[in-house]
Amino acid sequence: MSEKNPQPVRAEVGVVLVAAGSGQRLGQGIPKARVLCGGRTLLEHSLESVVASGVAASVVVVLPAGDGVLSAVVDRAGRRAAGVGTVRITGVAGGATRAASVRAGLDALPPSAAVVLVHDAARALTPSSVFQRVVAAVLAGAPAVIPVLPVVDTVKVVTGDVVTATPDRAALRAVQTPQGFDARALRAAHASATASDLGVTDDAMLLEAQGATVHVVEGDALAFKVTTPLDLVIAEAVLAGRHAGTSAGTSPETSPAALPGISAGTPPEI
Ligand code: C5P
Repeated sequence: MSEKNPQPVRAEVGVVLVAAGSGQRLGQGIPKARVLCGGRTLLEHSLESVVASGVAASVVVVLPAGDGVLSAVVDRAGRRAAGVGTVRITGVAGGATRAASVRAGLDALPPSAAVVLVHDAARALTPSSVFQRVVAAVLAGAPAVIPVLPVVDTVKVVTGDVVTATPDRAALRAVQTPQGFDARALRAAHASATASDLGVTDDAMLLEAQGATVHVVEGDALAFKVTTPLDLVIAEAVLAGRHAGTSAGTSPETSPAALPGISAGTPPEI
């Protein structure tokens, strides 16, 4: 990784890396985390980006139950990290929904983790700077922090085949991970989630339901979620760009002017 680590590994920061999804939309018939990209699994790429960010002392990887290939990836990464002595990497079996998988990861994190990042393994190429912005904002006191990008498309609310509303695009943001939380607040939100919350697509939704204030920091185009075959083509091109040292593998600074209320690297006012 070319990015430097401007802050030391934080003993109080833990990461739940969720990788237990089926990856049906990629259409390869294997769990998405096992799909190869640039010759390595998506899980290897995402674990590398978590460790390279230097933000956490412990990482729990949530895996499809009984997946020997991915367990071996985690074991290998765990042994390598233990050799360096900075990060503790372990694996745990996930659940039927993303929320259930996050809960399994939370249960496996050391209780000393006062700050938790929840990250999609499918966002395999997330730059270190995104992890660092999120952690900085939580350490500055925000109970919940999410990285976001402006929405470039016009978004419609549709019922059946009829448009019922057009939200103001300027107020919309596309949400990424890692999402960062005060660990106690996140555990409480998961503990009080009801059956109707099982389908939540991110953890910030659970805290919003509890009335917590969720802050935003600047995301990054490279933190995109590998979901479709086209995403995989893009990820391959990014990795090839990195390998060749071209701009395809780097992340141009997004103009702060394009992100009202968000400035890179600055924790939100809380
Ligand atoms: O399905 P979706 O794209 O929202 O998944 C986002 C992340 O959540 C992926 O990294 C996936 O592996 C993970 N996930 C999980 N357990 C599930 C479903 C999704 O860990 N049951």
